[in-house]
Amino acid sequence: MTIETASRAAAVLSDPSFSVPEPSRTAIGELARLRREVSRFANGEAHAARRREVVALLDGLDPERLADDAADRTRRAIASGARDADDPRIRAVPAAVIAAAIGFADPSGVAADAEVVADAYRSGATTPQIDAAAGRLLRGAGDAAGPRPHPSIGSEPDTAALLVQLVAQAHRATGDLVARVCEAAVPGVEPATTLHEVLRHHPPVPATVRVVDGRPLEVALADPDPAAAARPAHELLAFGAGPRRCPGARQALAIAASVVETLRGSEGSC
Ligand code: HEM
Repeated sequence: MTIETASRAAAVLSDPSFSVPEPSRTAIGELARLRREVSRFANGEAHAARRREVVALLDGLDPERLADDAADRTRRAIASGARDADDPRIRAVPAAVIAAAIGFADPSGVAADAEVVADAYRSGATTPQIDAAAGRLLRGAGDAAGPRPHPSIGSEPDTAALLVQLVAQAHRATGDLVARVCEAAVPGVEPATTLHEVLRHHPPVPATVRVVDGRPLEVALADPDPAAAARPAHELLAFGAGPRRCPGARQALAIAASVVETLRGSEGSC
């Protein structure tokens, strides 16, 4: 079943009785471990505790600084020959910006692994290559996070997994937003206007899933209702709604706008 209307979608997402599908408790491998330890696929108290930590991490990331770093990295990518939003060197910018801000040792390398795990992070369907990339991300984050909490502190969120989650959540969605804004660009129209329109009509995360009576319920995230045109971009349904709404929306918008503007103001095509 799919929920298509924006008002019904917002109501479902705001209702705590709808849960998210949880990952397998027994699957082995690094991707399975990552999925079990992030907030995105947890319910109840585990979700709340991990989300608190994620929000605290994101509160420390100033959108303006992220935008400056995104502009620098985009300029360097253009100088190395990248010309459009789909070039892997441009696609790598959002994950690299977030990884640098949260202390990964090799932020530029992180984007390549984030790309390898992007589909499997959502679906759980893994391969040895995906597990190897998830393992590299978790080790890189472990260095940034410091020592793991002692296993006796059972409910303590694993900071390394939460740091990887930020990169995994940021990478594909922010890259897709940039690419769609560049595709939809119209001369004379402000990038911010195009960005808002893309989020309403072609959201980078087109749908999410909740579980009701043991069955998956797909919730579409487009919001073509004209009333949504007046809402600030970070409050659009494209970023979800309710207790699981995207906590990185402001950071995502700052990075995406900066990459778009840098591409437009240079030899890049956007
Ligand atoms: C254009 C880019 C982005 C879009 C469209 C987007 C969209 C979303 C959506 C729709 C959800 C909620 C999923 C649900 O309720 O089932 C979500 C969750 C999340 N997003 Fe984003 N996101 C973007 C970028 C980012 C960035 C840059 C970060 C971090 C720096 C981030 C971090 C997160 C996290 C941690 C969650 C899980 C929240 C929770 O477990 O409660 N996102 N995102």
